[in-house]
Amino acid sequence: MDKFFSKVVLKKTLLFLFIAFILIQFYRPGKNNSVYTANNDFLELSDAPTDIGALLKKSCYDCHSNNTNYKWFDNIAPVSWWVDNTISRGKLALNFSEWKDHDPWRKLSFLSASVYDIQTDRMPKELYIKLRPETKLSKKEKERIINWINNIDRFETYYKNGNH
Ligand code: HEC
Repeated sequence: MDKFFSKVVLKKTLLFLFIAFILIQFYRPGKNNSVYTANNDFLELSDAPTDIGALLKKSCYDCHSNNTNYKWFDNIAPVSWWVDNTISRGKLALNFSEWKDHDPWRKLSFLSASVYDIQTDRMPKELYIKLRPETKLSKKEKERIINWINNIDRFETYYKNGNH
């Protein structure tokens, strides 16, 4: 390929990519932001202390609740698509904002899984922490959450909070 020709191809490719980038911005996934209903929320229903609330809101609520704290880059496609997909999958696993309506067995298994996931750094997700370093939990913070979760009364969680 001669030099001139390859320059034209490069320019055309860049132009194509640029136009494609602009066009994909038009597909905007809906935002995960609903009215906060305290009566359905895990932190309210389990009487979580303020510091636990702050930690879980910081590190888990973006993907496991009805209210995501979006950053500017979350709005740019294709990142926005990935964000939307991750939130949907996270909420499918468990939605803290709708704790009241989850089946008791789901609540209990989610609590145990959360302890494991925090201990093994499975949650919050690695890429997410890279993009939001402030959501990383310190060793102390992890211990604090795990201790608190382990002391939640499982019996009460099973029978109360909307399930009788
Ligand atoms: C960036 C989004 C995101 C954040 C933040 C996040 N999760 Fe998740 N979580 C997910 C997704 C997506 C799934 C579905 C399964 C998967 O993809 O791993 C999930 C699944 C889970 C599960 C189900 C069992 C499992 O491991 O698959 C538990 C438990 C869990 N998360 C706990 C937490 C806790 C506790 C926090 C906060 C310390 C947290 N998550 C923060 C996205 C997130």
